Amino acid sequence: MSHLNLVFLGPPGAGKGTQAKLLSRRHAIPQVSTGDILRSAVKNESPMGLKAREYMKTGALVPDDVVIGIVRERLECPDAQTGFILDGFPRTVPQAEALTLMLDELGKTLTAVVSFEVDRDELVQRLVGRRTCPACGAGYHVTYDPPRVDGICNACGSTLVQREDDREETVVNRLEVYDAQTAPLKAYYSSKGLLREVPGSGPIDQIERIIHDRIFGSCRDTA
Ligand code: AP5
Repeated sequence: MSHLNLVFLGPPGAGKGTQAKLLSRRHAIPQVSTGDILRSAVKNESPMGLKAREYMKTGALVPDDVVIGIVRERLECPDAQTGFILDGFPRTVPQAEALTLMLDELGKTLTAVVSFEVDRDELVQRLVGRRTCPACGAGYHVTYDPPRVDGICNACGSTLVQREDDREETVVNRLEVYDAQTAPLKAYYSSKGLLREVPGSGPIDQIERIIHDRIFGSCRDTA
């Protein structure tokens, strides 16, 4: 069976994490979220976490060399040898170029780059209403995907929290950073024939089916 080596690309709030978790479970491949890895480093107050927090709290990108190192280390782990979903990486052209080199060295190729398209106003609504479980990582939205009991995780019963960078003023900055630094990656991957655009609005299970069709309608053998 060919390996499924994917990149999920899209603005903050587009649903990359939501869909990556579903696809990760369905295909038993890891979701590699640079945002989650960085937030865990911030929580643990590691030297990298202390440095990253200064960028993340304003919605700026963490320096390329930091995230490239994180991804390289993660893709060498045993569970990433039969596939992976890169969620939130690459986010700049230098990161994309580094990924191309890294995959060459590891003898892997990308299967597809799934690009999520969502209207700007909807992105803001989604982000300011997002809640996450600090214990098990489950994600919710106060209106679109609420937990059964208000403020409590369905899966583990912990109290849900709002991410520090989901305040409205930080959200606006994150969207500007996306336009300036990450949106150019669509042209980068389109020129390589890897880009698969997916409408990110609508029911979550419908988007999941569209992603499946876009990937498997175009899947080619990869190492
Ligand atoms: P990161 O954690 O990657 O955040 P992001 O890209 O801004 O993406 P989000 O997690 O906010 O959104 P998402 O697309 O995953 O949407 P989700 O599924 O949660 O990065 C955070 C920070 O870390 C960055 O700002 C930067 O500082 C740093 N960083 C990370 N990677 C980096 C890199 N490579 N380089 C440099 N710095 C880096 O959904 C959002 C909400 O919408 C949820 O509430 C969800 O329930 C809801 N929702 C999902 N789908 C739907 C739907 N179909 N309909 C209605 N609601 C929906």
